[in-house]
Amino acid sequence: MQGNFTYHNPTKLYFGEEAISHLSNELKNYGPTVMLSYGGGSIKRNGIYDAVLAALKEAGKTVVENPGVMPNPTYEKVLEGCGLVRQHHVDLILAVGGGSTIDYAKAVSASAFCQEDPWDKYWVHQGWPSCPVVPIGAVLTMVGTGSEMNGGSVITNRKAGFKLGKVFGPDLFPKFTILNPRFTMTVPQYQMVAGFFDIMSHLMEQYFAGNADCTTDYLIEGLMRSLVHSSRIAAQNPQDYEARANIMWTATWALNTLLKCGKGGDWEVHQIGHAIGLVTDATHGMTLASVSLPYYRLVMHDGLHQFVRFAQNVWNVRPDGKTDEQVATEGLACLESWMKEIGLVTHSRELGVTEENIPAIADAVLILPVGYRTLTRDEVVSILRQSL
Ligand code: NZQ
Ligand code: ZN
Repeated sequence: MQGNFTYHNPTKLYFGEEAISHLSNELKNYGPTVMLSYGGGSIKRNGIYDAVLAALKEAGKTVVENPGVMPNPTYEKVLEGCGLVRQHHVDLILAVGGGSTIDYAKAVSASAFCQEDPWDKYWVHQGWPSCPVVPIGAVLTMVGTGSEMNGGSVITNRKAGFKLGKVFGPDLFPKFTILNPRFTMTVPQYQMVAGFFDIMSHLMEQYFAGNADCTTDYLIEGLMRSLVHSSRIAAQNPQDYEARANIMWTATWALNTLLKCGKGGDWEVHQIGHAIGLVTDATHGMTLASVSLPYYRLVMHDGLHQFVRFAQNVWNVRPDGKTDEQVATEGLACLESWMKEIGLVTHSRELGVTEENIPAIADAVLILPVGYRTLTRDEVVSILRQSL
């Protein structure tokens, strides 16, 4: 186990089919004006909007509507939300949606009263809020990002030419989140499996780093096994409540700060994925799926012991009579066949990546000096080419 760390996660979770019944009581802890942030309209079609409005009414709140948060939320949209918060003296931002809506709510919360340029301060320079922030609550409708119980806020700024993440502190974690697996049942299959891979990627980003014997790795392996098991069931039958509930719970634990305890983390796959997202606006989980295999096949040699462990403990690869390279390679082959089985995109061409836009994508990739290998720009280009 390496390093010193502080663990503090203040988000209160209400989980299960009855979770929304707690919303009106929870809302009573906040002031009278609630900004209701949501996406492009799925919550109006599946009834979640009506259920949330009923709770807001029961709690006697004044509602400020803030619809239209897009997947891969933009900085322009964040500034629009900031204007609403200031104009209406919003006491709580209630984000109803997937990671995009919750990430957006955190960005608005930290930026509404910021005296400096928020993009520059938070996303470019990774600074901390010194202004008042607005509390956030969440109703999760799409599983994957972990935004429901973390401080992550990933924002796309096309003018600046970057999609960047900022991980805020506990003040900007949702104060509470409603997690009802049934609310995720209307997510289209493509989005659903993209979310499954996002979870796997969060687990792998944290697993493939460090050399110590670390309790966290055992937790990650357990979560990976549960995810692989339940995702196979859910891909066949998306209405399987048990599988969807397990996956929802796994997603939350995959990125709620627990698994970084004692681990350094890698996160290079996410940097490449974000650059693809910037240029193509593709679905986050699919961007990760498209580059993970070439990336891990490259860094496998630098962190061989961990890739051997991954093969044996997650995929049950038997090591008898095989070299470490063979075992590790077999583990990645198991990862690949699982990805194909559940219907993930494994070619970035399907997302709009081309030979021509690879240089622009490579320019937008942040190269982090962590994980088992610090990439060169040429290696980034090579990974992108192989992903085509
Ligand atoms: O906008 P609506 O109409 O609601 O439709 C959404 C959207 O089109 C739809 N959807 C969500 N719930 C639904 C539903 N459709 C039918 N029924 C439902 N119940 O799904 C689409 C995708 O939603 P989105 O919120 O964009 O997906 P996701 O949760 O994958 O979020 C992606 C964003 O999160 C960031 C990504 O970069 C991306 O911008 N991330 C945030 C992280 C964090 N906070 O820690 C970490 C992640 O690695 C990630 O980077
Ligand atoms: Zn992710």
